[in-house]
Amino acid sequence: MAQERDLVVEVEGELISKPYVEITLNLLARFGIAVRREGWQRFTIPQSSAYRSPGRVHVEGDASSASYFVALGAIAAVDAPVRIEGVGTDSIQGDIRFVEAAQAMGAEVASGPGYLEVRRGRWPLQAIDLDCNHIPDAAMTLAVMALFAQGTTRLTNIASWRVKETDRIAAMATELRKLGATVEEGADFIAVTPPATLTPAAIHTYDDHRVAMCFSLAAFGGVPVRILDPKCVGKTFPDYFEALFDLVRTPVEAVPVIAVDGPTASGKGTLASAVAKALGYHFLDSGAVYRATALVAMRTGVAPDDETALARIAATLPLHFLHGDAHLGEENVADALRAEEVGAMASKVSARPAVREALRQLQLSFRRIPGLVADGRDMGTVIFPGAALKVFLTASAATRAERRYKQLISKGIPANISTLRAELEARDERDRNRSVAPLKPAEDALLLDNSELTVEASMDVVLKAWNQRRPFG
Ligand code: C5P
Repeated sequence: MAQERDLVVEVEGELISKPYVEITLNLLARFGIAVRREGWQRFTIPQSSAYRSPGRVHVEGDASSASYFVALGAIAAVDAPVRIEGVGTDSIQGDIRFVEAAQAMGAEVASGPGYLEVRRGRWPLQAIDLDCNHIPDAAMTLAVMALFAQGTTRLTNIASWRVKETDRIAAMATELRKLGATVEEGADFIAVTPPATLTPAAIHTYDDHRVAMCFSLAAFGGVPVRILDPKCVGKTFPDYFEALFDLVRTPVEAVPVIAVDGPTASGKGTLASAVAKALGYHFLDSGAVYRATALVAMRTGVAPDDETALARIAATLPLHFLHGDAHLGEENVADALRAEEVGAMASKVSARPAVREALRQLQLSFRRIPGLVADGRDMGTVIFPGAALKVFLTASAATRAERRYKQLISKGIPANISTLRAELEARDERDRNRSVAPLKPAEDALLLDNSELTVEASMDVVLKAWNQRRPFG
């Protein structure tokens, strides 16, 4: 304890990431602790040091998190610059020097206290040869920028990469090669030469937030990339992808859709939401849209054949989803929608063309980046006919009735298996034979009978099929 005697920190070998230590020393000084420093080898906190309030402290934005947006500006900001607030050239963080490296590669940067504005300058970028000891973390982004540079970019003095979340030199080399780059790696350096044409690739992220973040930038240079396990960014920047997507516009046709259609209780909902979760995509349970319309109709006494009144309900439905649960206005209706009588009414309501038309736009609005998994009856045939993958999921009537039975019993709702089977067969019959958007597989659908499959096994089939689809097939 520094209360009783001096506290001494001795460094063996060369201290890496000196700028981070420097920030710590500066902050300690502001809080009343004067550390004695002998070079970068020995630090002494004098006896009886004690923290003292510095009054107001301004906490800067994180410069290494900002580096991804600096790179984004250098790669893709052609019309207007990317403006980053919270860090500027007056930053006390070492990683701010990433800005100099980006400028050396071609970025155009305007900056001031607390902000940076970055746009594309030279294009293609210019290769650099840089000792990265002062910006070890942010330098990974330079390796990705190298994909868009003329010549070979050499990043040296990065031995520490090998002992971070993963062996980052090996990880970067492997993933850059997938995109077509020629990569040379050594104990403490990496050299990246871009190919004439980049190859689309699925990027493994090694549970390393920085691998996920820096490779996402490759997409802005025009090569499709799929970031596997994108949630690993949670370590330092949980809403990284949301922040990134806020800055860019994607034509709606470019947002990938996986359509999962099939009869009642075939397990579409379970499969589709699991696939959405695995891919980090949005999820649309289109049945809930029809069920919500049915629920409002039942509550307000609208008959199943009053098409005009039903369409009015559908067009003004205050339906939204919160943490996966359907809400009508303020009310959580997740459980109410699952009731059997609501399902039966939904099947009648959904046969009305005006209702389907009124609900179309609501369903389309779920198509947002990074992608959508939608389940229902007509996702692949009517709502998203251009879906990149269409799955038609079936199971025998006996299996489906049994699954629904177990579902209801587990919620304490009494049920009878043969009644359930009769009801779901009647519902399928109606869904299959209606004049608009009847239940049927799209011509190009992958037919999957999951009577004998676990959810995991079905998911495996779908994810494998997806991995072979656009843009990677
Ligand atoms: O899938 P779920 O059982 O929740 O759907 C309830 C009813 O809504 C179905 O029986 C069907 O008639 C209708 N529906 C539809 N089109 C969809 C989804 C559901 O017609 N895309």
